[in-house]
Order: sequence, then structure tokens, then C-alpha cells
Amino acid sequence: MPTASRPVLWVIAALLLMTPLTAAAAPASQLLPPASQPDGRKLFQENCAACHGENASGDRKPSDLGFDFPMPNFTDCSFATREANGDWASTIHRGGRARAFPRQMPAWDEALSDDEIDAIIAFLRTKCTKSGWPRGEFNLPLAMFTEKAFPEDEVYNQTEFNTEGPAGFTNTTIFEKRFGKRGQLEVNLPISSVYDGTRMQTGISDMGVAWKQNILADVDQGTIFSLLGEAVLPTGNARKGLGDGVFQFETHALFAQLLPQDFFLQGDITGVFPTGANLPDAGEARFGFGRTFAENDGWGRAWTPQVELLTAHDFTPGAGIDWDIVPQLQVSLSARQHMLLSIGERIPLNDRATRKPQFVMYLIWDWYDAGLLQGWR
Ligand code: HEC
Repeated sequence: MPTASRPVLWVIAALLLMTPLTAAAAPASQLLPPASQPDGRKLFQENCAACHGENASGDRKPSDLGFDFPMPNFTDCSFATREANGDWASTIHRGGRARAFPRQMPAWDEALSDDEIDAIIAFLRTKCTKSGWPRGEFNLPLAMFTEKAFPEDEVYNQTEFNTEGPAGFTNTTIFEKRFGKRGQLEVNLPISSVYDGTRMQTGISDMGVAWKQNILADVDQGTIFSLLGEAVLPTGNARKGLGDGVFQFETHALFAQLLPQDFFLQGDITGVFPTGANLPDAGEARFGFGRTFAENDGWGRAWTPQVELLTAHDFTPGAGIDWDIVPQLQVSLSARQHMLLSIGERIPLNDRATRKPQFVMYLIWDWYDAGLLQGWR
């Protein structure tokens, strides 16, 4: 054996021996007193207050700032709570450009450590002093069929078409508007094309009006829970296959759980109660499980693969349960992340002779965050 390699072997042997030792030593090192925590308030006063104001309320005059556009008010709960810490962290680490804000907002990646930036964000979080506003952390990537628990200001457009079997197409636009801390009004406008055996019938299907009420949003536990009630109106022409032709009421229990490593679980337990005797009551349960990955060390474009499991059951004697899975991928289109696209496929797991796979896609415009043409880059 050439002698030169012997020290190398020793080093390897020593490293191998040390591995269990270092592994065993790790818990002991965790017992050491933590290094002193950075002071978020002080760091904010030193680095940020000149532009954002002493109280982070954005009350600096344009003549002091040297530019003339409104600055964010971190004491305004309606503004501050709907942003997740990760959104602020992106802007602070990478500067205004990262999220298509003005370039006057500097990047702090080099000047401040991760811990210091986290401490400043924790300080900014103390500025909204009212409780009960659900935090932006719960504004999870929307699944195709599982309603979200978070109340939102959004316009949403979903397209579904059959990829096998008879032609069929539905395009639904949903307008969502938040009211107060926890409420949200929703109006659904579906336009459908269905093949009735001889020709395509196209028109408005059954519209819906819904109210969502958030009940619990505990960011420390990572749990959100909301209730939603919807009235579905017989605006479609049922004889042409557009809609069901009766009033229906829906109740939804909506929840989500944030999990470690940016994983999350969302759920939607639904009861459907048609008026009149022609249609049975139905129960549906939908779940989405996914994870968000972001480009540029976690501060850039966000990609979220998600898979949904859908179950539906009519309360009629002998009726079984329909099962579907929906693999899907959401991506943020704009730098502000207020325009989102998702594509997926709804795949029936049973009754495949009558239930065919569907291609599904949606576009979301989060209009509170920026105008349609703003915030792209
Ligand atoms: C030279 C001026 C300046 C300094 C210094 C500055 N900012 Fe900013 N900051 C801005 C501007 C301008 C914007 C964009 C405002 C807008 O258009 O909404 C901004 C935006 C932000 C946003 C995004 C708010 C939102 O709407 O989501 C955060 C978070 C932020 N700044 C945090 C900080 C922190 C933390 C510091 C200190 C470490 C800091 N800023 C220092 C000018 C500055």
C-alpha cells in the first residue's frame, strides 16, 4: 500500500469513529445557553425607521424620503396580517425588486443575518395590536376542489373539461370579497357547455352565493377552521343539462393544518341539501396535501405540487361512495405572487365506465395585493 494514502485512511477511520460521538454530543451542545437574541426593535430603528417611520406606520413625509409613494403601515392589521412572514422575509432579504415593489426598498441579505431579519419581523408583528385577524400563513395554495378556510379578496377562474368520453366543459368565475376580520362574501358564476347526445348546449349554469366565516386561526398551532354556507340558485336551464334546476343549500366545514417543512393539509367537509324531492342529499369530503417550494433560496417564484382526494356520497339506499384523486401543480406567475396558475387532472378511482377523467386548471388574481397589470416584475 502506498504510504501517502495511509494518513487519509486514518482520517477516514477517525471520522467514522467520531460520527457516533458527535451525534451523541449534539444534545449536550443544545443545553448550552442560547446566544443572545438579536433585538428586533433596535435593529428596526437603526436600519428601517428612516423610511418606514419610528412606529413602522409609514408616516414619513415624501420630502424626508426623497420619493413619493405610500409606504406600508405595519400597524394596520388588515394590511399586516394578510402577509405571511415569508412574504416579508422575501422583500427584506432580496429587496423591493424581489416582489416587484419599488427599488428604493433595499436588499438586506448582506447587511443583516437571518436571525436579525427574523427578529425585525417579530418586532413588526407586534405592531398590529388587535387579535382575531387570521394570518397570511393560512393563505395556502388553493386546491382545485377543496375550498380554502382563509377569507380572501380574489377573483378566481376555473376550467374543467372532459379528456375522455362525451364532450363537456365548465368555466366558473368566483368573486371573493373580505368583510372585517373574519368574513368573506363569495359569488359563483359558472358557464357550461355540455353535450346532450345530439348537440352542445352552452349557457349559465347554477349560480351560487356564499358566506365564509372564519372561526379559529391559531398561527402557533398552525390550525385554521372556518364555516361556509352557500345558496345555489337554479339559474341554469336544467332541461338542457345546465344545472340541477332547484335551489340547493350547501354547508362546508373548512380547515387546514400547517405541517413542518412547508407541508400542509387542507380539508372541506360538505353537506348538499337540494330542495324538492328529485335530488338526494349528499355528503362530500375533500382533502388536499401539498408542499411549497420557492426558487432563489426560497425567496422567489413558488411551486406547489398538491394532491387531492375527493369522496362523494348520495344519501340514497344502496348508493356507494365516489372516489377521485386530483394531482395538480400551482405556480406563481407574477413577482408579487398575486397571479397564480394551477393545472391538474381529476381521475375517478371507481365507476370509471360512467365517470371520465377531467383536465382542470385555474387562474387566481389576488386583487388586494396588486392590480391586474401591476406587480409582475
Ligand atoms: C431607503 C428606504 C427604505 C429602507 C431603509 C427600508 N425600506 Fe422597506 N420599503 C421601502 C419601500 C419604498 C417599500 C415599498 C413600499 C410599497 O410600494 O409598498 C418597502 C417595502 C417593505 C416591505 C414590504 C411591505 C409589503 O407591502 O408587503 C417590507 C416588509 C419592508 N419594506 C421591510 C423593511 C425592513 C425590515 C427594513 C429594515 C431592515 C426596511 N424595510 C428598510 C423603503 C425602505
